[in-house]
Amino acid sequence: MAVPLLDLKAQFSLLEADLRAAVDRVMASQHFILGPEVEALEAEIAAYCGVAHGIGVSSGTDALLATLMALGVGPGDEVVTTPYSFFATAGAIARLGARPVFVDIDRDTWNIDPALVEPAITSATKAILPVHLFGQCADMDALAAIADRHGVPIVEDAAQAIGAEDDQGRRAGSVGNMACFSFFPSKNLGCFGDGGMVVTDDPALAERLRVLRAHGSKPKYHHALIGGNFRLDALQAAVLRVKLPHLDGWTAARQRNARFYDDALASLPAELLRTPTTRPGRHIFNQYVVSTPRRDALMQHLKACGIGCEVYYPVPLHRQECFADLGYGPGSLPVAEAAAMTTLALPIYPELTPAQLAEVVDRIVVFLSS
Ligand SMILES: Cc1ncc(COP(=O)(O)O)c(C=O)c1O
Repeated sequence: MAVPLLDLKAQFSLLEADLRAAVDRVMASQHFILGPEVEALEAEIAAYCGVAHGIGVSSGTDALLATLMALGVGPGDEVVTTPYSFFATAGAIARLGARPVFVDIDRDTWNIDPALVEPAITSATKAILPVHLFGQCADMDALAAIADRHGVPIVEDAAQAIGAEDDQGRRAGSVGNMACFSFFPSKNLGCFGDGGMVVTDDPALAERLRVLRAHGSKPKYHHALIGGNFRLDALQAAVLRVKLPHLDGWTAARQRNARFYDDALASLPAELLRTPTTRPGRHIFNQYVVSTPRRDALMQHLKACGIGCEVYYPVPLHRQECFADLGYGPGSLPVAEAAAMTTLALPIYPELTPAQLAEVVDRIVVFLSS
């Protein structure tokens, strides 16, 4: 039985009529960029995250870029971040001429290790940029305490974590000064292309972001700031507004699937396969990631059996060729480097059937027991 890593057609077939109606509504309006659909989505996402303002933008990448621009990050500045994330996290920092300062990750959650953040802060630090990796919140309490002590803002990269909560029940996006979401189709809340959102409680930052996403233009054709074209399309907003009411149900299904894997894979010794460490809070399982010393062989085997799986991420950011001049040698951030060699994401999407879940488990258990 084939089990894809992700099957978006299953979700589409459930919502097809509503999605077509939403797209029709936008076509009838002929209002394609920003406008009422985007404003409605901004209010709905802000409320969902428990913050005051949402600013719709063109992608999660542009959300990161625009938030760092809003903070005035530029050449000579440093931003402390994790080396174990999608490229955009560090790319946004470097594109502004600032230096990503990578600190190693926690070996259980693979999120940034707060104990290493404080020693990395210097007079040049302009922000701390944690990532809620795979849908589990970074240790926001510890990070907020450090940020407070040093008067440095936090930008949450919550691209993978909409609806996640930390151990105090605080939603991803509600603790930092600003937070960035991605609506890339494979995210738990995905649109029909690229899209993103920044959320913040700070009205001045929200206003700055609204100006920056339209080339810094305010009033029109007058530019006190240099921004970019970071606007969200009405079509994407309309699609997302159909999907948002279903998000909590999908999250519950992902959590159910994760529990099934946790229980069924517990028969394997921990030195052969480690299931994800879930800290108190609400993990939304954008990815369900296991770790095994036989990762490459297992991946090859699963793919040969028709089971989708993927390595997120095979090369940690500090070891990317484009960051060679930052001087992080092999072994400099050993936990991230080990994670890059041992982790593997399994299918976790909400519509997986019990038979598909059992197939994934059987293939793994038989292979690793041999
Ligand atoms: C952690 C993280 N940050 C940023 C991004 C960038 O988002 P987008 O693909 O919408 O530009 C992603 C997307 O994969 C991500 O996973």
